[in-house]
Amino acid sequence: MEGKPLSGKVAIVTGAGRGIGAGIARILSDKGAMVLLADVDEVNLQSTLEDITARGGEADYILASVADPEDAQQMVSKAINRFGDLHILINNAGINRDAIMHKMKDEQWDQVIAVNLSGVFYCSRAAIQYMRTREYGRIVNISSAGWKGNIGQANYAAAKAGVIGLTKTIAKENARKRITCNAICPGFIDTKMTRGVPSNVWKTMVDKIPMGYVGEPEDIGKAVAFLASDDAAYITAEVLNVGGGFVL
Ligand code: NAI
Repeated sequence: MEGKPLSGKVAIVTGAGRGIGAGIARILSDKGAMVLLADVDEVNLQSTLEDITARGGEADYILASVADPEDAQQMVSKAINRFGDLHILINNAGINRDAIMHKMKDEQWDQVIAVNLSGVFYCSRAAIQYMRTREYGRIVNISSAGWKGNIGQANYAAAKAGVIGLTKTIAKENARKRITCNAICPGFIDTKMTRGVPSNVWKTMVDKIPMGYVGEPEDIGKAVAFLASDDAAYITAEVLNVGGGFVL
């Protein structure tokens, strides 16, 4: 794996069982990183692992929920024990439980905040405690174009806006320790999550993308790989839209 931009680097990708997380994990591996895949779905984890191994990459997985602080700690320990270090954390795991706000149930609010916001806090805290000792780190948080507010997504927008505040705080608190932290806001990407929307909503969304087509998970993976690389050493506290020109 010598000569690749992420050679020798160890990365954790949460929500790596499918969709954008699987795409990110594939790209990081193709660029030379050793990847610990984390997800709550073991069947999907095995499939991402097989895919990466078949491409000649080095990876392993852990069944873990980002919403559980102990699981977050386990992820970090496993990456260090298995691959000897931890350089990169990609907080990608996310869910949606859409409902118009005046009809939103407490569980819908609580679940989305737990995974999409508290999950980023738990995993980042665990990783940073180690990264600070090494004085090196790259954290990339997957927010969403929806952070600016979207009908039916009060829980999701609040969590994704929270991720941006958290990103900038992590960046400022850890800049002197050479740990960068940036957020990516995907636009509309072809995954199980977006395939869940009604066909008329799908069409309306595509019509709003200046480039005229839906993105692929690898489009996010390539932007993540840059921010996770040594080339991005002086970029921190930034928010990057990756959506073919789509912004809310
Ligand atoms: P997806 O639903 O296809 O995949 C999400 C993955 O996260 C699944 O493998 C799932 O098992 C895992 N996951 C769920 N809860 C978890 C937990 N507690 N701990 C660990 N893993 C968990 O979704 P998709 O589309 O790949 O989304 C990935 C991220 O990108 C999410 O944070 C989402 O909010 C964000 N995003 C997606 C967009 C899109 O157009 N697909 C647009 C903007 C943001």
